[in-house]
Formats: sequence, structure tokens, C-alpha cells
Amino acid sequence: MQTSDIYKRFASFEARGESPCYEEWAEGVVRDADLLTLIDELPVCKRQPNLVFAAARYAGVSAQPVDEFRTALVARWPQVRELILTKRTQTNEPGRCAVLLPLLSALPQPLALLEVGASAGLCLYPDKFSYQYGDLPHLDPARGRSATVLSCAIDGPVPVLRTLPEVIWRVGIDLNPLDVTQSEDMRWLETLVWPEQESRRQRLHAAIDIARRDPPQLINGDLNETIVTVASHAPSDATLVVFHSAVLAYLSADARAQFVATAKSLRGHWISNEGLPLAPIVSTTVLPPPPDPTKALFVLAKDGEAVAYAGPHGQSLLWFGKVPDRPIRDP
Ligand SMILES: C[S@@+](CC[C@H](N)C(=O)[O-])C[C@H]1O[C@@H](n2cnc3c(N)ncnc32)[C@H](O)[C@@H]1O
Repeated sequence: MQTSDIYKRFASFEARGESPCYEEWAEGVVRDADLLTLIDELPVCKRQPNLVFAAARYAGVSAQPVDEFRTALVARWPQVRELILTKRTQTNEPGRCAVLLPLLSALPQPLALLEVGASAGLCLYPDKFSYQYGDLPHLDPARGRSATVLSCAIDGPVPVLRTLPEVIWRVGIDLNPLDVTQSEDMRWLETLVWPEQESRRQRLHAAIDIARRDPPQLINGDLNETIVTVASHAPSDATLVVFHSAVLAYLSADARAQFVATAKSLRGHWISNEGLPLAPIVSTTVLPPPPDPTKALFVLAKDGEAVAYAGPHGQSLLWFGKVPDRPIRDP
């Protein structure tokens, strides 16, 4: 895809309704031959609007109208370019736990969680957040309400159980794990949240606080090269769950195929939460028509079977698949 098409699609498909600033910036890039030339000089995998705009903001370009944005970006381009080349899109969205939870809660407990592409590992704490599914009663950890309440609009027979999973082992794998105790790593994560999304930023801070109390074990490496060894260390008396969200888009077709084959071969269960275009890679299910084709959407799948459409940041769940069996542990 041409860079101008990538930015056009980003403006109308991802940023519209979510970030007026990013929508305006992306439309500005589409109209600006000089900016397109600068971006086209980057390696293909580094041209993502998300990465370019976050690097600009990290370098001090504030959320401002597109003309001022352009001037500031060009003035700081050497620094922004360096950031783009050295950093990755590692948006860590704890809100996605709300999408994973119905599947996790229904598995035989306790769980051993292994997240590939974990970033800072904030999705490894599904048992520590509070949840608000539609207008159902609050769902809280055993020790009372968490400071982080994940809200998720629901549609269809979403199987929300009244208990949270019991996690006895949590490990992540990432090409570049971010450290919740390092302020510069966390500043990058914060910058990856889009300008107007204040509630996402607050949720991120609260999730970082939770993770800092018991920092996750994160393995530095490629998921395909490390997953089998890391999985072999999971306690045998727990249900192993390999999961991932917003990761497979960063892999080549061969690497995706290799990962899917490995995930299917491991003991336990495999949960995937990836963008709709990747659904044929992670599931064999024929999907119902998406509710709104103009909006970006994720597909939630368990063991190669799609069960729901999910909002990209965990903000919604539309269940169309099998409802999981009751958990072994009684609520
Ligand atoms: C967009 S972030 C998603 C983070 C997290 N899964 C979430 O949903 O909040 C994608 C993460 O995948 C990691 N990643 C990409 N390719 C990888 C690979 N081959 N092996 C391990 N991690 C990878 C990136 O470094 C990044 O942290």
C-alpha cells in the first residue's frame, strides 16, 4: 500500500471518532508531498501513523492544528526519525483484559498465563482489575474493587462469569520488553495513547501501578524462538493459556504460520485477539458480517475458533460464538 493510502485509511478507519488530532494530522500528511517523501525514506515497517505521530509527540511536538504540527515536525525531523528507527509500536492496552476475561474465567483454574508480544505485560493481570460489562453488576477482584475499572459494552450472549480467574503464573515474551519500573519506558507507553484519550491514559497509569506492585516476568526474544521453552516452565498443575493481542500484524506470513502451528501444538489453550483482517490466520470460523464495516475491529478466538468481535482497545464485545462450558471451579 502507498504511504498516502495508509494515512488516508488511518484517518478515516482508525482515528475518526477516536482522535480528531490524529485524524487531522493523518489527512494533512496525505495532502503533503514533502511529508510523504520524509516518511517514504523510512523502512516500510516504520511508516505506521501510530509510530510516526507518537515519535513526534515524544520529541515534543504537541497536539496542535495540522499547520503548526507540520512546521514542528519538519524542524525536529532528525530527532523524530531517530526515535522512529529505535522505537516500536508497543501500545499496551490493559482494557483488552475485558475481552479476554470471559474465556479465561471459563477455563479450569488455576491458570498459567503466557502472553506473546506482551509489551510491558499489562494484559497479564486480568485478575487484578474490576470490570463493568454493559449494565451488569460490577465484577471485582477478591480483595475488593480495583482502582482500574475496565468498561466493556456487550452485545449477544457474552458469557460473563461472576468470578475472576486465579492466576498462579504470568510470563510475557517480547522483542523489546518495556519495564514498568523505568520512567522512560512508561513515557513511551503513555505517548502511544492518542492525544484526546484521557481515560485510556488514566487506565494505563492505574494498570502500571498494579504491575509495579508485582512486576511481570518478561522474556526478551522473538516469540517463535522462545515460546516452546518458556511454555515448558509453566507449572504443570495449572491450565496453560498462550494468548496475544495486536501482535500478529507485526509478523511476516511465514512467522505467523509458524506461530499458529506452535500454539496449536502446545498443551492447554490458545486465545487470540487480533485485527479482523487476520481472522483467517487464527480461526477457521466463517464470521458473521461485522456490525460496522467503517470501524476497525478485532476478532477474539479460542483454540482456532472465533467467538466474538471486540473493540480494538477492549471497549466492546459482540459474542457470536459458542458459549464456553461452566468452569471447573464453582463461582
Ligand atoms: C501493539 S503491541 C501489543 C501489546 C499487548 N499485546 C497489548 O495488547 O496491549 C505489539 C507488541 O508485540 C511485540 N512483538 C512484535 N513482534 C514480535 C515478535 N516477533 N516476538 C515477540 N514480540 C513481538 C512488540 O514489541 C510489541 O510490544
